[in-house]
Amino acid sequence: MLSEKAIKQVDEIIARYPAKRSAVMPALYIAQMEFGWLTPEAIEAVSEATGVPKATVKGVATFYAMYKHKPIGRHLIQLCTNVSCMIFGAERLVDIIKNKYGLEAGGTTADGRFSLVIMECIGACGTAPAMLVDTDFHENLTEENIVKILENYK
Ligand code: FES
Repeated sequence: MLSEKAIKQVDEIIARYPAKRSAVMPALYIAQMEFGWLTPEAIEAVSEATGVPKATVKGVATFYAMYKHKPIGRHLIQLCTNVSCMIFGAERLVDIIKNKYGLEAGGTTADGRFSLVIMECIGACGTAPAMLVDTDFHENLTEENIVKILENYK
């Protein structure tokens, strides 16, 4: 069940579209923010709110990497290791995160602080290497600044 605030947000989004089903993606995002990940209850809540069958909602949710299907840490690190980022040292940044936080790609720290997902380009090739932490974009990452940046997320 979504909170009243989330239901209001979803209703506002639905009102922007000619068809309720067009609101599935933003509604999934709202549900994910509310539940922390897309639980079966979150999928059901989006289905109810948009009138789209649960199977269709789940199909949309499993297609895109931005939706999470298991619990994640308080802060989600999405680090790109694709070509531009790799050339500028992204693999070394993965090692630094692993050594500093004991965090493997696809995993979550024991204290639940961080989860790490390796991305295939986040659209910042010109300022590589880059990562997202939650919804914050960080570019021009270096071996020196990545831990300093991550330490801002408690
Ligand atoms: S290759 Fe990393 S942002 Fe494009």
